[in-house]
Amino acid sequence: MRIIEANNYQEMSNLAAEYIIKKIHHTPQMNLGLATGSTPLGTYSEMIEDYEENRTSYAHVRTFNLDEYVGLEINHPNSYKYFMKENLFDHINIAEEHTHIPNGTASNIEKECQAYEDLIENQGGIDLQILGIGNNGHIGFNEPRTPFESKTHKVKLAESTRMANARFFNSIQEVPTHAITMGISTILKSKEILLLVSGEGKSEAVKQLLNGQKNENFPASVLNIHQNVTIIGDKKALAGIK
Ligand code: F6R
Repeated sequence: MRIIEANNYQEMSNLAAEYIIKKIHHTPQMNLGLATGSTPLGTYSEMIEDYEENRTSYAHVRTFNLDEYVGLEINHPNSYKYFMKENLFDHINIAEEHTHIPNGTASNIEKECQAYEDLIENQGGIDLQILGIGNNGHIGFNEPRTPFESKTHKVKLAESTRMANARFFNSIQEVPTHAITMGISTILKSKEILLLVSGEGKSEAVKQLLNGQKNENFPASVLNIHQNVTIIGDKKALAGIK
């Protein structure tokens, strides 16, 4: 695992955006895995700024998001589809049909999960997956004790995750109880993984990840067996590993 330390959130975002943009220049047809949440927001904003200044082209990039809430319409301001449009897709030259997010309003969620898993595989797999990490070690919405061999599936969200995400809703009651997420094995099949971590709230999780033990109680620990993981973190998030 490579670790790149940034002084602060802004520098982490700049470094992450540069990292991704370099890969896109190298492989214009890349399959890019994306995350939502607060951590990658600055990175997306830097990618937009680069697009405006340098016209890095996303015409041949395909994106695959990690997860989506079950039951939120795609134009609901808290759906991840909406989040991605607002914070990235609407501001770069990516074709809507090249952006993939599980459909949380599908009438048959199990079928949707299988279709999403198949889609990723049929498109050749993910070249670079961007990840954030939850305080409890979740990646995507794979909560502790999710089997490492899991594929895209429906999950019941942990109360701690619903509480952490309640900041985006009017109240915790509005936070959906379920989501669709890429499974741990889906994530692990990505050719390369870029984990972004920021702030002191993440330092314990980063420390636990880097103690090297693979344990289903801490989903992110599976990254220890992946051959190509880079962490870009700010000083506060990386403080615990010194
Ligand atoms: C988001 C996702 C989540 C987040 C994680 C960290 O698509 O899958 O695993 O990456 O909850 O969220 P933030 O960045 O808000 O701390």
